[in-house]
Amino acid sequence: STPGFDIRRIGGRIGAEIHGVDLSTEITETAGTTGPDPALVRELNAALLEHKALVFRGQHLDDAAQVRFASLFGELTTAHPTVPSVEGQPNILPVDGGEGIRANHWHTDVTFVRTPPKASTLRSLVVPPYGGNTLIANSAAAYQDLPEPLRELADKLWAVHTNDYDYAAPKNEAVAEHRKVFTSRRWKTAHPVVRVHPESGERGLFIGGFAQSLVGIGPADSRDLLRILQGYVTRPENIVRVAWQPGDLVLFDNRITQHYAPDDYGDLPRRLHRVTVAGDLPVGTDG
Ligand code: SIN
Repeated sequence: STPGFDIRRIGGRIGAEIHGVDLSTEITETAGTTGPDPALVRELNAALLEHKALVFRGQHLDDAAQVRFASLFGELTTAHPTVPSVEGQPNILPVDGGEGIRANHWHTDVTFVRTPPKASTLRSLVVPPYGGNTLIANSAAAYQDLPEPLRELADKLWAVHTNDYDYAAPKNEAVAEHRKVFTSRRWKTAHPVVRVHPESGERGLFIGGFAQSLVGIGPADSRDLLRILQGYVTRPENIVRVAWQPGDLVLFDNRITQHYAPDDYGDLPRRLHRVTVAGDLPVGTDG
């Protein structure tokens, strides 16, 4: 059968809203004993590959439905390698950072492990009336934007990703505690700076906040080169900005995007739940 949903692009180079599909019925609850229509799942995956971030408005899924939805795209990871899950829900990472522990830095999720996640789903439970958006960047467009000599250089580079980098002095106890938990086990993993997407074959810059140095290059030059490359990822042209409403669900391809959650909502409450799909070993341009 032909899957029935509409794709409405919301950014020039990344992002689409998916309309006309009710995830709680078509995907998760009453899809019957045969489960969701495989053609629908294939089409959603194709939309993910093309648009890299999909926004489903007003779905109001519960935790179990979010887990079932994410599972359509592959095996799930436990929520996070060090940060505790929601009690009794090993796949669900609560995102409700207090001041100072919000994800207001550009990153790709969990790149410091050997096989970083394929995709993440974020679901909004409580959102502030303004602010608290999520920005998502297209790192394949960033790669395409590089001048040819920089692209050739990037193709050859490897970066060391770690969850244990030099933090500035923590602002308060909560931040100090969060960092302790976040780094309770330490990882250091080298990945190619240019990753070939395992499904689409697209090349993208695979760096972000956990990429702390470049293999074979000293700390100062590493920082400068990473800053230059990262500047292409975070160009406004390459970003879509998602303004949350309660009950929204966002699915993004963690292999070819970065994201950033601006810390611009003060004391207003904001709570999302993240469910993460396991990924494979990043492969560079030389295979
Ligand atoms: C995250 O980095 O996974 C959280 C994103 C957000 O809070 O919007």
